[in-house]
Amino acid sequence: MYLTQPQNYFFSDAAFDNLFPIHIQKLSAIHWTPINVAITAARFLTRQPNARVIDIGAGVGKFCITGSFFTNGHFTGIEQRKNFVTIGRKVIKQFGLNKVELLDGNFTEIDLSQFNGIYFYNSFHENIVLADSLDEQVDRSSELYNLYTQHLLTQLKQMPVGTRLATYWLSITEIPACYKMYESHYSNLLKLWIKEY
Ligand SMILES: C[S@@+](CC[C@H](N)C(=O)[O-])C[C@H]1O[C@@H](n2cnc3c(N)ncnc32)[C@H](O)[C@@H]1O
Repeated sequence: MYLTQPQNYFFSDAAFDNLFPIHIQKLSAIHWTPINVAITAARFLTRQPNARVIDIGAGVGKFCITGSFFTNGHFTGIEQRKNFVTIGRKVIKQFGLNKVELLDGNFTEIDLSQFNGIYFYNSFHENIVLADSLDEQVDRSSELYNLYTQHLLTQLKQMPVGTRLATYWLSITEIPACYKMYESHYSNLLKLWIKEY
């Protein structure tokens, strides 16, 4: 079913989920950012000129699609599961959105310095709690968890002052001290940071 107005799909998470096949809908409650959280995070990340936001571990692009619909920023999602990228791209095309793209690959392959906003929904967690895994498509291990976490923390430290960061359900114990948390929402699950030095 395709409702006439794209905004109808953002009335609720259930309405948004309807855009996707059943096996993707089943992942939504645990693995995709709720729409109200995505809007709050996207508005914070794009509260600066020429906002270019990266979602590290984009899934089918729920955060990026929502962000590009509700803000003027440009959203890029990088996702290691190719089938998620294919499915998300279909929805982007269906909506005719031109400020959002989904890249197929591992986040370690891209240069974060081309972005001034970063969204991170605890994407590496499935490496340490296998029961929380989305599926069996990718390798998961505590070694990969450590590798990805260290890579991200190193990249975060190298970002320019003023970089905005939104974290949701963060399990990485420490965001580098050069980031100051300015706001938190949704029972402290969503944290909004700016790099100060
Ligand atoms: C919790 S889901 C979040 C999805 C999306 N950010 C959202 O909020 O709707 C995490 C996603 O990160 C992806 N992921 C995990 N590690 C990754 C990596 N190293 N590179 C790219 N994607 C990764 C997983 O495949 C999964 O789709």
